[in-house]
Amino acid sequence: MKDKINIAVLGLGTVGTGVVNLLKDNAVELSRRSGHDICITHVGTRRRRDDIDPTIKQSDDLMAIAADDDVDIVIEVIGGKSVAKDVIIHAIKHKKHVVTANKALLAEHGNEIFGLAEEHGVQVRYEAAVAGGIPIIKIIREALAANKVDWVAGIINGTGNFILTEMQQKNRRFGDVLKEAQALGYAEADPTFDVEGIDAAHKLSLLASIAFGIPLQFNKVYCEGITKINLQDVVYAKELGYTIKHLGFAFRREHGFELRVHPTLIPNSTLLANVNGVKNAVMVDAHPLGQSLYYGDGAGAGATASAVMADVMDLIYVINANTPSDVPHLAFVPEELSDTRILSSDEMTCGYYLRLTVKDELGVLADTTRILSENGINIDAIMQRDAHKSGLVPVIILTLPVLESQMNKAIKEIEALGAVTEPVVRIRLESLE
Ligand code: HSE
Repeated sequence: MKDKINIAVLGLGTVGTGVVNLLKDNAVELSRRSGHDICITHVGTRRRRDDIDPTIKQSDDLMAIAADDDVDIVIEVIGGKSVAKDVIIHAIKHKKHVVTANKALLAEHGNEIFGLAEEHGVQVRYEAAVAGGIPIIKIIREALAANKVDWVAGIINGTGNFILTEMQQKNRRFGDVLKEAQALGYAEADPTFDVEGIDAAHKLSLLASIAFGIPLQFNKVYCEGITKINLQDVVYAKELGYTIKHLGFAFRREHGFELRVHPTLIPNSTLLANVNGVKNAVMVDAHPLGQSLYYGDGAGAGATASAVMADVMDLIYVINANTPSDVPHLAFVPEELSDTRILSSDEMTCGYYLRLTVKDELGVLADTTRILSENGINIDAIMQRDAHKSGLVPVIILTLPVLESQMNKAIKEIEALGAVTEPVVRIRLESLE
């Protein structure tokens, strides 16, 4: 058994610095748990940092660090896809175990990276890539390994959750809250990945793969962000007993899997509806366990470093056992990954919130409900509000679950009615039962 485990940290941004600090703060505990001194021997950084322990080598030559004979585990926290991918592949080829927080890279290139790691007898760990400090990868891959997962639903983007929470609780507008999220450092300067749902779609593709045993298929995730959510709809949803959350869903259906990320009305009484601010939460419905919920910080230096170091600790156990690997990367042995189809958006099934803007004319509601009924759509609730100054009337309809293609057809027919003056606003609805 080695006395010392040597680690290289590539990238000294928020997460990399968090890892360096965590190792300093908790060195004794980590050594007591692992039986080793865990030392950072190298950091990869473009700019020299004077606040780093002078015994740690600093260099911008990431490839050289990744291949260094002294290094046992490489931590990639650079982010981005090109340099990070090259460095991880280089480390794998030099038989180094890798820990990464890079969900975009894994969602898009994970199949290749994991395949290569298996070929070279090393592990690529990625607990920090999904829901920050919540150990959801370990939970689904290991703690729930005896279960058949039916669905996973998660609030997996803290920035989006912060924005929707502020809109819901303080009646604030999207644009104003986004500016505040940027000022507070939650959202990136370019917040597209957060508010367009791409960050959540990256994370969802990882969750779906380990829940169902399917290859990573990010390009098949239906993805809609929160940029079109209107304060008015947040208020109407609240009046009807619902909260709008940005959720990622992975459902096992009879003919395939549904992978989707979008704003969703969920009942106020559900636990997920009460996950507020930048917090993340993931709910798993599995047999025989039933529903279980995991909650915590989805971002930030401490939470992410906690997940990164948990992976390092697991890898130390792998090194101690002198085994090439332990848990399969995607939770199922590679040759057993299933090619079950991912359903197209037309084939997805869910409830809907519809908001129509109509002229106050005789028969408009009758026409609307007739169209819904002719398309096999069951109405769950209907609410008409006072006319706007313009004389136009908002009508809100909640439906029971329906095939998306049927809803698309019904909406087209409703929009063709002379009394319907604007495109129908639609937001998906899930009861989470
Ligand atoms: N930008 C992400 C979020 C944090 O807002 O949740 C890291 O995944």
